[in-house]
Amino acid sequence: MAVLKIARMGHPVLMGRAMPVGEATSGAIAELVRDMVETLADSGGIGLAAPQVHVPLRVVIYFVPGSRTEDGEDVSLRVLINPVIEALGTFTVVATEGCLSLPGMSGQVRRPDRIRLTYSNLEGDMLEEEISGFHARVVQHECDHLDGILYPMRMDDLSTLGYVEEIAKGEQDLEAGAA
Ligand code: NI
Repeated sequence: MAVLKIARMGHPVLMGRAMPVGEATSGAIAELVRDMVETLADSGGIGLAAPQVHVPLRVVIYFVPGSRTEDGEDVSLRVLINPVIEALGTFTVVATEGCLSLPGMSGQVRRPDRIRLTYSNLEGDMLEEEISGFHARVVQHECDHLDGILYPMRMDDLSTLGYVEEIAKGEQDLEAGAA
């Protein structure tokens, strides 16, 4: 097991299209996922895609805390091998996103609210699920990494991109102004 170095925006590994995994059940993929799990835990993030640890393969891990899900239940750590997503309906939502490859920053991103996710797990089973809300946002953000897309490339309004600490100052000013 190892905590891996995370590539930041600008690194070529984040800009390319990652390759499909040939054999989801291989020992090499299991080892990659173990290292990604350790790296995610160390980072304090909730999702990580293999290109972010300099491995251009279609592998994503994530979890969703119950405080961010629609039913209040935790989505425990999931491994997606060769995930495919399809937007369902036309309803989109704008919300704040951050990324381990843009440390300290956040921005407002519009995404479809509901998606169909198809993927293989580490046992090689093909699974399909319809998901929505923040869970669907996390999956879309992570799957974008497999196609060389970082969230600023999805933003309609780059004026909302900034450092989290500085954005928080603006929110405090607004509160002070309202008081
Ligand atoms: Ni990211």
